[in-house]
Amino acid sequence: MPVPLDRLRALLGDDRVLASEADRELYAYDATPLLHQRPAAAVLPADAEQVQAVIELANEEGFGLVPRGAGTGLSGASVPADKDAVVLLFPHWNRLIEVDEENLTAWVEPGLNTLAFATAVEARGLFYPPDPGSMKVCTLGGNVAQNAGGLRGLKYGVTGDYVMGIEGFLPTGEPLRVGGKNVKDVAGYDLKRLLVGSEGTLGVFTRLLLRLIPQPRARRTLLAAYPRAVDAAATVKAIIGEKIIPATLEFVDRVTLNCVEDYAHVGLPRDAESLLLMETDGHPAVVEEEATAMARIAQAHGGQVEVAASEADAERLKTARRMAFTALARLRPTTILEDVTVPRSELPAMVEDVRRIATDYGLLVGTFGHAGDGNLHPTILCDERDPEEMHRVEQALDVLFEAAVARGGTITGEHGVGLAKRPFFERLTASGTLELTRRVRAAVDPNGVLNPGKILAPPVRTESLVV
Ligand code: LAC
Ligand code: ZN
Repeated sequence: MPVPLDRLRALLGDDRVLASEADRELYAYDATPLLHQRPAAAVLPADAEQVQAVIELANEEGFGLVPRGAGTGLSGASVPADKDAVVLLFPHWNRLIEVDEENLTAWVEPGLNTLAFATAVEARGLFYPPDPGSMKVCTLGGNVAQNAGGLRGLKYGVTGDYVMGIEGFLPTGEPLRVGGKNVKDVAGYDLKRLLVGSEGTLGVFTRLLLRLIPQPRARRTLLAAYPRAVDAAATVKAIIGEKIIPATLEFVDRVTLNCVEDYAHVGLPRDAESLLLMETDGHPAVVEEEATAMARIAQAHGGQVEVAASEADAERLKTARRMAFTALARLRPTTILEDVTVPRSELPAMVEDVRRIATDYGLLVGTFGHAGDGNLHPTILCDERDPEEMHRVEQALDVLFEAAVARGGTITGEHGVGLAKRPFFERLTASGTLELTRRVRAAVDPNGVLNPGKILAPPVRTESLVV
């Protein structure tokens, strides 16, 4: 149904309803290519009461609500599926409300920037491990909604592993509170887990309780350069085979490392076919032992190993890796970044699959990713204005997703389904999972108000969607 802007203005005040052409264009996309849909408006609710009032109005009038963090998402989960949608913005909800140093938790508002939060708790000797590539920009609310991963997933897990409580509102407007106690708590269903990664479909978050851990006492960062792409992947398999679980094992291929080097001039070895960025952390003695073992294993697989000489040097290498997406995006007009994930044991084979698919379809593909998690980011560099090339891209993506699933993997290891992967989710997911997803969604959001059209095809119009 069309959005009644006058009623929204009456509820929130004129300056909290952004509906100019320029504003609507600003919230028409996120970091996912090819997706673009202007909402009717974006709103800046002042407080919890206003969030609730907007949700109630959406239920009454039948328009969609799209909660949005910083717009760094890579599956289009915050791109409206329909023009009759209102984007909910939380940039001003950015307080670190409270850190409980005794219980190792923190209450935060959803618009708080991830890096700002990590830095603030680090100053108290605490550690918030989830570190998405976009952490300089993204927000904790968005991270929880997408269950964002990062470079430390192998040892420390992903955002969902650090969520202890969520407050906000249900899609029908009732207050929502799950978890939120500083205790181990198994009373009833694990509803936190249901809300984590729900991509804005099951609730709007207004406060989050996050788990912290002590800062590791020592860290060691190493970079190995290889003459073949597959050697880096084989090293990952061997390190884990020796029962070592480092914090970070990141893969970067030749195309990607050269783009990063052109962009950031960090001194990466340009002639290597692949790089493996490794980091171990924890007790100094264990760190020493693991770093030595990882260097030995990398060398045994043909790697030239460099140990970061200082904390600044280590940061330089990690920042270079985090820039991969941005650096690749400079090469061609359109950057299609995927996040297929396979069991680690299948990683060398999946790296080969990606190369073969790139060759078969004549596409330029840079690959990097969280190799320790079996999570690759094959990134197709193309031009959306060339229909013939885009046809090959479509075919290649189909084959890529099918290859990952055939290897026991998944279509998305960290970016979520959103709009971009919805057809693949529907095609490649077990029917029981799809049915449970549909039932939960219908039960929690009977009017289809929250983020309609995401994850599963909606019972609403989508013909205006540009895909
Ligand atoms: C990264 C994002 C693209 O790993 O997931 O940099
Ligand atoms: Zn990633």
